Amino acid sequence: MINARPHLERIAGYALADLGESDLISLAQNESAFEASPSAIDEGKAACSSPERYPDTEWSDLRSAIGDVHQLDSSRILCGAGSMELINVIIRTFAGPADEVVGTEYGYGYVRTAASLTDAQYLKAKEIDCTVCVDEILNTVSPSTKIVFVCNPGNPTGTMISHDEVSRLRRTLSEDVLLVIDQAYGEFADDYNDPVHTFELVDQGNTVVTRSLSKAYGLAGIRVGWGYFPKDVTTQMRKVLSPNNISVPAQVMATAAMRDQKHMRSIVHRTIEIRERFADDCRALGLDVPQSHTNFVLIRFPSSEIAAEADRQLRAHKLVLRGMGPYGLAECLRATICRQDIMDRCLEVLKEVMR
Ligand SMILES: Cc1ncc(COP(=O)(O)O)c(C=O)c1O
Repeated sequence: MINARPHLERIAGYALADLGESDLISLAQNESAFEASPSAIDEGKAACSSPERYPDTEWSDLRSAIGDVHQLDSSRILCGAGSMELINVIIRTFAGPADEVVGTEYGYGYVRTAASLTDAQYLKAKEIDCTVCVDEILNTVSPSTKIVFVCNPGNPTGTMISHDEVSRLRRTLSEDVLLVIDQAYGEFADDYNDPVHTFELVDQGNTVVTRSLSKAYGLAGIRVGWGYFPKDVTTQMRKVLSPNNISVPAQVMATAAMRDQKHMRSIVHRTIEIRERFADDCRALGLDVPQSHTNFVLIRFPSSEIAAEADRQLRAHKLVLRGMGPYGLAECLRATICRQDIMDRCLEVLKEVMR
């Protein structure tokens, strides 16, 4: 019997939603309601026909597609097997035992796991009304803080803070603290908050922006994310990133999807339309739903017992939402926005519960 390193013995593995039986419909993982770009699917199929070669370790085509679309210096883009890999590598590169990583009260759960894996301390800054609060983050950081993570828009809340607030955070934080702005849902918020400003923060120093192709591009299964980094950060991270991290078909599919902005925009617009209708219908039932800037909504029930009952009844109708107990929000369920007919089924069950 071999023992894992002591800090690993103390942490639990990362838990995803329990989907149980295979005929359940998942509204639990924030995947896209709609299919990826047809050109991505076609090119991915073609790329599977010659698997004997290793992938491009520079992700050259993908990086230039991202650079063209977002008007970014492609030499400062890094790609990962999902933005999850980039989050993990950022922490492994810049934090270790005795260092602090600061996130927010309801920030993305994997950040805590990744910090624990390096034996760093993970601290949570309070949120106000399920929204990130810059002053609380500033009160939480200490001289031991190496990295601050802000998920904007937030998961599981869906809420967002303005560019001015993010910029104030950067200005006020000590220059040697790395600020990571996780924008896995950024495309759903681009009409609300100009993404150009967020990427400009990276030029101002020690700031990173991560994005994902799992959400608005409908490519969760191929595992591709990317980030925009200061040059010196990319140099250090390259040493830690696995050199062959993204397979050939995944790079080809992600590049084609990135070049098909029209398709991505149509996924975003259709999702937002369904989200807004569903959120309004939930509010009409007396449920509290914070304004979301993502492809999911957080539904707050009058009590944790009613939320648990809603979860039971939804599962009885084969619909699985994400329970929020682990986030300290047991009175909430998070619903990924799916096709209209599925959201209608979900709403019918919620009507029954609230009657
Ligand atoms: C806030 C946030 N960041 C990052 C990720 C990781 O996404 P991926 O690794 O699929 O790019 C997720 C996934 O749900 C997320 O919700």
